[in-house]
Amino acid sequence: MSNPSLLILPGDGIGPEVMAEVTKIIGWFGDKRGVTFDVSEDLVGGCAYDAHGTPLHDDTMAKAQEVDAVLLGAVGGPKYDDLDFSVKPERGLLRLRKEMDLFANLRPAQCFDALADFSSLKKDVVAGLDIMIVRELTSGIYFGEPRGIIQEGNERVGINTQRYTESEIDRVARSAFELARKRSNRVCSMEKANVMESGVLWREVVQRVHDTDYPDVELSHMYADAGAMQLCRWPKQFDVIVTDNLFGDLLSDAAAMLTGSLGMLPSASLGAPMANGRPKALYEPVHGSAPDIAGQGKANPIACILSFAMALRYSFDMGEDATRVEKAVEQVLADGLRTADLLGEEGATPVSTSEMGDAVVAALDASL
Ligand code: IPM
Ligand code: MG
Repeated sequence: MSNPSLLILPGDGIGPEVMAEVTKIIGWFGDKRGVTFDVSEDLVGGCAYDAHGTPLHDDTMAKAQEVDAVLLGAVGGPKYDDLDFSVKPERGLLRLRKEMDLFANLRPAQCFDALADFSSLKKDVVAGLDIMIVRELTSGIYFGEPRGIIQEGNERVGINTQRYTESEIDRVARSAFELARKRSNRVCSMEKANVMESGVLWREVVQRVHDTDYPDVELSHMYADAGAMQLCRWPKQFDVIVTDNLFGDLLSDAAAMLTGSLGMLPSASLGAPMANGRPKALYEPVHGSAPDIAGQGKANPIACILSFAMALRYSFDMGEDATRVEKAVEQVLADGLRTADLLGEEGATPVSTSEMGDAVVAALDASL
């Protein structure tokens, strides 16, 4: 059997720094666990624009379609703010999501015990938190037509369209119900059925999928604004949240802060199974390129490391090793190691991006 293949796209800003730490973990698996990944690397985002005049070269797109999994760092930066919309760094990421048809974006928000004091919410609100946001990733207002900025009389109009087909809602709902069955068996679906027709259809289809194929899972519905409020009030009421592309973008950033730092949150974007049975997959931290701290060794590599753990679990059927990586992260946090985003408590040991990666590798060694 051939080695599992990975395409690494470090991207912009802190992307390359955090990805360098993931590369150490990948190397560790080759050295210590006898799992060698065939790794190739390429450009996405602003750096791809600098090199090729496009945020994602066709060759890179083709490679992404062929590998078992893509690992992405982050894209974007102020340098690219004035670029035409069609070649902005973010378009590279959106093209990957769309053309790989990665419709189910899994964004877990877990609060590690060692960080419960760090959240801006009270400790008892977040301690032990373990929720999973399933964000629809290939449709909705991010991709709906018509879109653009048009001239209407003597002023311009900005247009985007929220659009969901029944089958798009159906398949992401199934992903959420399947996940819930492996967790606490509860799904809360969020939309704005009170003001949006797409929300009415969303609610109807999620309910139908539930009634037909997942009656054993507990399903509730919530308006997304109320959901945002409940996420801050008592997040532990949730198990799996399923929602559309835009609401998922917002709610997952909010959920990230429950865990103490945006630097902690991984994600998996999954599509339909490929010929080898593995889902099309891209793994990336939820945080962005953080240009303000790029290149200073301040970035927290944990979100990116945990994204690789998700790859082990969802692409390579290595659930035990995924847990091993997660436990190693938990260990270094319990030992008090903190990157700049997590400083503030007494007794913490400040570490750089690469020291954090080394510490996770050491904790992996200790796990053997
Ligand atoms: C995310 C990001 C992206 C999004 C950007 C970088 C295009 O915010 O993954 O949450 O809006 O989806
Ligand atoms: Mg976002």
